[in-house]
Amino acid sequence: MDKTKNLTNITVPKIIDMKKRGEKIVALTAYDYLFASILDQSSVDLILVGDSASMVFAGQKTTLPYTMDEAVYHCKSVRRGVRRALVVADMPFMSFQVNPEETIKNAGRFFKEAEVDAVKMEGGETIAPTIRKLVNSGMPVMGHLGLMPQSIRNLGGYSVQGKTDEHAQWLLKDAKAVEKAGAFCLVLEKIPHELAKQVTAELSIPTIGIGAGPDCDGQILVTHDMLGLYEKFKPKFVRRYAELAQDIREAVSSYSGDVKDNEFPNLDESF
Ligand code: KIV
Repeated sequence: MDKTKNLTNITVPKIIDMKKRGEKIVALTAYDYLFASILDQSSVDLILVGDSASMVFAGQKTTLPYTMDEAVYHCKSVRRGVRRALVVADMPFMSFQVNPEETIKNAGRFFKEAEVDAVKMEGGETIAPTIRKLVNSGMPVMGHLGLMPQSIRNLGGYSVQGKTDEHAQWLLKDAKAVEKAGAFCLVLEKIPHELAKQVTAELSIPTIGIGAGPDCDGQILVTHDMLGLYEKFKPKFVRRYAELAQDIREAVSSYSGDVKDNEFPNLDESF
């Protein structure tokens, strides 16, 4: 059922207001028109066109190869399917690190060509001046701290971040810098739930957790993970709400059997 009919659009101020009202923010990823429209009809508040597309959609080993042109293509496809939710574009690795001019130009492409509502960038204090520039240019920014997959070469793996007191203090400082720079919300990925609780309590902007426990202001998952479509690995923080890859295999095998046995099509399905 399409639940979007009588609902008003989600905007950046509404996302901020949800934290004030204690209403949890529901976020998921999408990379194409069809999934985006189904999520939008299911009252998801925020749809992230994540650079996880690189792994989940394109079959790459990491998110690093994802390009600006690929990202804009995915965002345009998602935009066509969304009437209500806030659409956020993930800025690809190396699209915002080179210099401020290039960052503004790249972020601007998402707003001009794909009509997104906001962009997301991984990083803390070091990217705060860039966040400020984008926000001042009219481009809302979502931050991303904790496990930052674009830093996989530095981190050496996808382990839980902020586990020591020292790292937790760095993360808190980064979170405050991102907030001060004007970000409207912050993704916290794979950090201890007590740290996520503290960050959430100390920030006025909403936190959106993925593997960060129950106290964040909202939650995000990779849609293909929670639907059981991406089966290469299943992080502990993913809850599977369906087993669609298995359903698809069963459906395709039924179709295949019917074709081989001359059971499909029948005369009702013919002209
Ligand atoms: O790329 C992505 O899908 C993300 C989410 C996991 C937060 O960054």
